[in-house]
Amino acid sequence: MKTEFVDVHGVKIAVRMGKSVPLVYIHGSGCDGSLWDSQLERIGGYAIDLPGHGLSDEAQIESVYDYAFYVAKVTENLVGKAIFLGHSLGGAIAQSLYLDFRKAVKGLILVGTGARLRVLPAILSGLKNKSEETVNMFVEMSFGRIEGFENMIEETKRQFIERIEVLLRDLTICDKFDLLDNYKKGEISVDVPTLIIVGENDKLTPIKYAQFFKSVIPQAQLVVIKDAGHMVMLEKPIEFNKAVLDFISKYD
Ligand code: COA
Repeated sequence: MKTEFVDVHGVKIAVRMGKSVPLVYIHGSGCDGSLWDSQLERIGGYAIDLPGHGLSDEAQIESVYDYAFYVAKVTENLVGKAIFLGHSLGGAIAQSLYLDFRKAVKGLILVGTGARLRVLPAILSGLKNKSEETVNMFVEMSFGRIEGFENMIEETKRQFIERIEVLLRDLTICDKFDLLDNYKKGEISVDVPTLIIVGENDKLTPIKYAQFFKSVIPQAQLVVIKDAGHMVMLEKPIEFNKAVLDFISKYD
């Protein structure tokens, strides 16, 4: 897998690349583009390291919009227009791309995310105070079950502890993200092909968040993946990749 760097106003953004498919993956809080290695291998596309994550430079980031700006510029440079596949915070960024950079958006794949992403106050305060213990709790909540995923869970904890400040920044940004009433009032209507994916045991962005999307984006397809939690792309890659491939084959 190769990594290229795109310069956005002096900030170097790293992009992991599979075969050339107009699909851009956006990871969630504290993660990086390597989250999508199984998808890059099987499906192809472009996985961005958001500013301050992975191999990308740091940038001034205060909101979901700020992240969306970098993703839009990178996409413009690499493919012009794409389907955006966003997980958790990445799903909020995908929604912001639809609202603020519509010309770049061919379609949306919203994975383990929501129209509002409030974060447990215990997680936000815990990361500031007793960080390691809180990271352990947060990572364990991210997986549907622990058995069989011990190595992945340990590796994720290690990554998050290394990047605790970025993780806290990301979760603070998630906590402020709120389009719930805008969807409810009909102020947002999504008119691009949309796929919603959620793990049936997702504890961080429960199924009802995905069902809400389905209720306000009636043409969207909703796929609930059994026996999976928030890290559905890692927990059930075969089922996850199939849902994405089926969707993009209709619109590619
Ligand atoms: N889609 C649809 N409905 C949503 C929603 C979404 N994205 N986010 C919230 N709601 C609904 C809730 O279901 C709730 O409805 P109800 O009153 O019928 O039960 C209502 O809006 C208010 O919920 P919320 O804004 O979350 O406030 P809260 O005070 O009830 O709960 C938390 C706050 C933090 C406890 C809760 O959001 C939570 O458990 N979050 C998940 C855990 C977490 O930290 N996730 C990290 C996400 S990155």
